[in-house]
Amino acid sequence: MTDASAVPAVVQLSNVSKYYGNICALSDINLTVRRGEVTCILGDNGAGKSTLIKIISGMHPHDAGVVRVHGKDIHFASPREALDFGIATVYQDLALVPLMSVWRNFFLGSEITTGMWPFRRLDVERMRRVADEELKNLGIDLPDIDAPIAQLSGGEMQVVAIARAIHFGAQVLILDEPTAALGVKQSGVVLKYIAAARDAGLGVIFISHNPHHAYLVGDHFAVLNLGRMELDAKRAELSIEQLVRHMAGGAELQALEHEMHR
Ligand SMILES: Nc1ncnc2c1ncn2[C@@H]1O[C@H](COP(=O)(O)OP(=O)(O)O)[C@@H](O)[C@H]1O
Ligand SMILES: [Mg+2]
Repeated sequence: MTDASAVPAVVQLSNVSKYYGNICALSDINLTVRRGEVTCILGDNGAGKSTLIKIISGMHPHDAGVVRVHGKDIHFASPREALDFGIATVYQDLALVPLMSVWRNFFLGSEITTGMWPFRRLDVERMRRVADEELKNLGIDLPDIDAPIAQLSGGEMQVVAIARAIHFGAQVLILDEPTAALGVKQSGVVLKYIAAARDAGLGVIFISHNPHHAYLVGDHFAVLNLGRMELDAKRAELSIEQLVRHMAGGAELQALEHEMHR
């Protein structure tokens, strides 16, 4: 993307704050998410990353500031409402049913039916075919879409969840720590499809506490520290070394490393 500012914002937070009782989880946050970009939200445990995306995804209300989606001032009452605005969230537990097939999970909650009441039934053939096509379109090659989804690797399950969000028309895809529990190879698989979702024109919000994963796919980096926005920079303005240093504890870790290798 040569001039990101030419792409209209799909989600825009202005001076957003959030309290849990007396705890200030987010303070005065400004953030712009654009389509065709991966926006990375980084920060240590407790930084406020999940709280930030819960506000965008309709799980929690914000206490102050303005959240705009497609330019409209919104107060989502539920994740369903956010989804109606094209905001899809893939949670860490993925909300998949382990013993059901890959294609059945792909359509979970949005099953295609055929026939008329009272003879309506699931359109199994169509769901199988569409799930297969959509996965192949993203270049996802699974050995057997009839197999229980529990047989897939953690990375493959994340990828099915991403393909599902794209299929159901998501414009913003939120991924909360999708690589946190994965090894290097599986993380690579997920990062590849994060890039594919971005290239399909979605605005991707990628939450991570791993600056190396973020830097591989990120176009825009927002680092939170104890609920405050510590850094908000585009890729061209930031090296990986700078990103690592900006993360909470990054400077301390580098100093420690220096000391230990002296
Ligand atoms: N439901 C909640 N009730 C009370 N405090 C919470 C709740 N969720 C998060 N917090 C607190 O808000 C802060 C930010 O948490 P969170 O957004 O989960 O951070 P992160 O995802 O970056 O680890 C932390 O201090 C956390 O303990
Ligand atoms: Mg979290």
